[in-house]
Amino acid sequence: MKVITVVGARPQFVKAAAVSHALEDLADELIVHTGQHYDPQMSDVFFTELDIPEPMYHLGIGSASHGAQTGRMLEAIEEVLLVERPDWVMVYGDTNSTLAAALAAVKLHIPLAHVEAGLRSGRMDMPEEVNRILTDRISDLLLCPTDNAVDHLAAEGITNGVHNVGDVMTDTVRRTARAIEGRESSLGLPEHYFASTLHRAENTTAAQLPKALAVLGAVPGTVILPLHPRTKHAIADQGLRLPENVLAIEPLGYMDMIELVTGAEAVLTDSGGLQKEAVILGTRVVTLREETEWVETVTIGANDVVGLDADLAVQALSKGPLDMVKVNEAFPSGASQRVASLLVSPR
Ligand code: UD1
Repeated sequence: MKVITVVGARPQFVKAAAVSHALEDLADELIVHTGQHYDPQMSDVFFTELDIPEPMYHLGIGSASHGAQTGRMLEAIEEVLLVERPDWVMVYGDTNSTLAAALAAVKLHIPLAHVEAGLRSGRMDMPEEVNRILTDRISDLLLCPTDNAVDHLAAEGITNGVHNVGDVMTDTVRRTARAIEGRESSLGLPEHYFASTLHRAENTTAAQLPKALAVLGAVPGTVILPLHPRTKHAIADQGLRLPENVLAIEPLGYMDMIELVTGAEAVLTDSGGLQKEAVILGTRVVTLREETEWVETVTIGANDVVGLDADLAVQALSKGPLDMVKVNEAFPSGASQRVASLLVSPR
């Protein structure tokens, strides 16, 4: 069986790593990298550290407006699919790479599997929400991370090929946490610090970015902020300065990121994946958005969704440690094996 996996952006490398390992003995997997993320620290380091097979095709599309980026990817992925004629195309999450590959597959009548199907934020002004809804609508196999995701699909009338397999990122987080145990750190972290990431399009506008930085400025302690290129450019373009307690560093590889998050007092983020990664590692999360796709992290008391309200963020930071029994129940391991089995014998 031949599977083509299309990835392009950081969180997809993390998710695909888990499934690639599970598929090793079951299928012939070819990886296509769209090139959506191309800086070595945003891409290559993940392939090396997570032991992901070298991409067979590197499309080198790079940054552009959403339409141009998605369109160029669609054209280039179609060419690959016409040559390779796989049994499955597999896509992850909600980026422009996800939607482009999904469209290319469905137009060639190649079965499509979507890992992390059924997530919803309810906000159509987020590019990710559009990408997810459209991808789910045309997928044959919808591999959901939670019951909640299954319910979202049912509410949209999608029930065929839907499975709750659990969250594949969980497998990579736990594997990486084990891999770095006892490793000598090169990060030079202080004893007490908070960690943050900020990159959402809607948080880096001239209206929102000053507020987001003010939230970090209100945190009682040092905030270490691996800086996404989009945010770095936005800070420079808007003539902003980081608050004094915020220490910006280059984007981190996956192992360093897991180390940073594990040792943090808490994480403040607008990322989707990091909310869950932090909780799995036992670190409290404050989400700098108005909503979350990972409602389970909120219901188990591990995540407070505060928007850009500095007072609410500071209050949330003082809550106690996480209930790890609840965390492990909400995020069980083994999702990547379940994905691999369903691809080989779909039900
Ligand atoms: C994308 C995903 C988002 C995901 C994020 C993970 C979409 C719509 N969004 O957002 O869901 O959470 O990846 O990080 O697909 N840039 C570089 N070097 C790179 C990559 C990007 O400098 O290697 C800069 C460019 O200025 C680019 C900007 O970052 O225009 C944004 O990159 P893009 O891939 O468009 O979206 P992300 O914000 O990374």
